[in-house]
Amino acid sequence: MLPHPDLPGDPARIFEGILALDRSGDALPRLFDQLRAVAPVWRAPIERLGRPWIITRHADAAALVRSSALVKDERLLGLAGVGGGGAFIDVMRRMFAFQGPEKHHRMRALVQRGFTPRSIARLRPEIEAIVAGLLGAVAARGAMDLVAEFAFPLPVTVICRMLGAPVEDVPRIEGWASAFARRADPAEALTPERERIGDEATIAFVGYVQALIDARRRAPGADLISRLVEVQREAPELTDDDIAATTILLFQAGHETTTNLIAKGVLALLRQPDSLVWLRAHPDATEAATEELLRFDPSVQISTKYATRDIPFEGETIREGDPITFVWGAINRDPAHFPEPHRLDFERTPNDHFSFGMGANYCLGASLARLEIACAIGALVARLPGLRLAAQTIEYKPQLHLHGLARLQIEWDPPSH
Ligand code: HEM
Repeated sequence: MLPHPDLPGDPARIFEGILALDRSGDALPRLFDQLRAVAPVWRAPIERLGRPWIITRHADAAALVRSSALVKDERLLGLAGVGGGGAFIDVMRRMFAFQGPEKHHRMRALVQRGFTPRSIARLRPEIEAIVAGLLGAVAARGAMDLVAEFAFPLPVTVICRMLGAPVEDVPRIEGWASAFARRADPAEALTPERERIGDEATIAFVGYVQALIDARRRAPGADLISRLVEVQREAPELTDDDIAATTILLFQAGHETTTNLIAKGVLALLRQPDSLVWLRAHPDATEAATEELLRFDPSVQISTKYATRDIPFEGETIREGDPITFVWGAINRDPAHFPEPHRLDFERTPNDHFSFGMGANYCLGASLARLEIACAIGALVARLPGLRLAAQTIEYKPQLHLHGLARLQIEWDPPSH
């Protein structure tokens, strides 16, 4: 018996639906359920994605992490949607997220210090002040586009400050960043037009970051670029191009993911108003609510890794070198692991979701993201009474890897004086 008899039962057609960006917004959880039910461990016959194994069950993801036979490296850049050559690929190749274990470990260690739970906790007053400023600007109005006026400016301001980029430059940076992200999305095949736009944006982005590097070399500050420039004095093999690629990685990874999570999290809360009422009555549960919102609708829906050896698995053999694609959105709503997975439950324990990925590539910014989301959701719930959706039609951005909303119109009861 299929969980959704109105959807196709053939895994290839279900997966097509998942990759169909114009349709995949609200439909994703049902498509995930269907795929998990008919083909939980399945080799997708899609050549441009390298014929990946598709994993949708929580227990399978957990077992594969434990096997420690997975790696993420530059082979990912050869896949369609990311393939081709040019400036974009050159920068991606230098990012530690796409390097083999040794180089990955070395580069990641250089920036890790700035992202430990302890260093991130120190940012709380600053993040709370940014949140208060954004809400203060709109509270009397009683309505806003949550994405443009809150969920986007918060993380982008935070990551710009950490990197040492002036916040006034955000519109320019954002133009390059979104062309960069579109160039990399695996759901779409690469077209010459997308490749050209991605390369032009990359060249401009790198030029901008190089100017920041030069400025910090002359006058160091307390930001991450200054720290990398300082490291370079002791380790000349670290080039300016490496610093630029690391900066772009942190910027790319550090803003739109959090924007999307906040916006989709608020959407989930407003669609399950009981949970909003509960949270308003339990402000101490904001951290637990953050975990549940992360589980419920992750902003990175899929990640791909490679098998480093043959792995006998569920009666099949995943061969050394095969790509394995983890569908985090499906894994996080596996009913065998999370009872009533489509319901928000802020008292869910354990809440061992995979929204920050796994293993050596586990999200470097997880503590930062958690803090930003908790400050954002806590303040929205406390400060905007009568919070509700202003439009029923929800518009998603046409991306699967960085999955999010294009806009979210919300309303609340403005203060009467
Ligand atoms: C809600 C927000 C976020 C989500 C859902 C998220 C999710 C993820 C996921 C799924 C991965 C890939 C893990 C894997 O391959 O197993 C990742 C990697 C990464 N994330 Fe995040 N992330 C978020 C916010 C951030 C923030 C704020 C930063 C700060 C700079 C950040 C920096 C990174 C970096 C640098 C990597 C690459 C790590 C590596 O390959 O070693 N992320 N993130």
